[in-house]
Amino acid sequence: MVSEINRSRVVSFTAMDRGAREDYDLVAAHDAMNAARLTDRVLTWLRSMDDDSPYPISRLEHALQTATRAERDGADDETIACALLHDIGDVVSPRNHSEAAAALLAPYVSEKNHWIVKHHGVFQGYYWLHHYGEDRNARDRYRDHEHYEACVEFCARWDQVSFDPAYKTHSLQHYEPLVRDLFARPPRRML
Ligand SMILES: [Fe+2]
Ligand SMILES: [Fe+2]
Repeated sequence: MVSEINRSRVVSFTAMDRGAREDYDLVAAHDAMNAARLTDRVLTWLRSMDDDSPYPISRLEHALQTATRAERDGADDETIACALLHDIGDVVSPRNHSEAAAALLAPYVSEKNHWIVKHHGVFQGYYWLHHYGEDRNARDRYRDHEHYEACVEFCARWDQVSFDPAYKTHSLQHYEPLVRDLFARPPRRML
């Protein structure tokens, strides 16, 4: 909150083109503090998905179930974290949730995992778009992409099947360390 900002440590400029290196050092220090709180915010967003849903389970439970299936299939920690967070974009960008989740993850994950999260929406369309007279094979425009099969698998094995209230799903607590480890990684600079 604005009232919590220490006003004795503010930049000297009111327009960025007047800033000096010391100013941007201040900004960078604040950015680092902001980033350090990211995991807690992400966990709060996940908890906020434990709400009304037209599915047999909540969107949080869907996320946890997707991650649990990935874990039981022997996926590595980064991939499990991506499975857990693949729909987190719903919180801030319900009309573009795949890209929003991918943008959150991009500085911390491999190009492959980023690509899968970014495109999982159109690949999931295979399971429902035809009910609306749309092309369920829209994913085929990526058929020659090196991660096409991996994204098909992500959706087929983990995402589209994870609406089952009878499935034994791990808790959010179980995945908390994994999320903390992911966002503790040195991030790639993204501008
Ligand atoms: Fe999704
Ligand atoms: Fe999903």
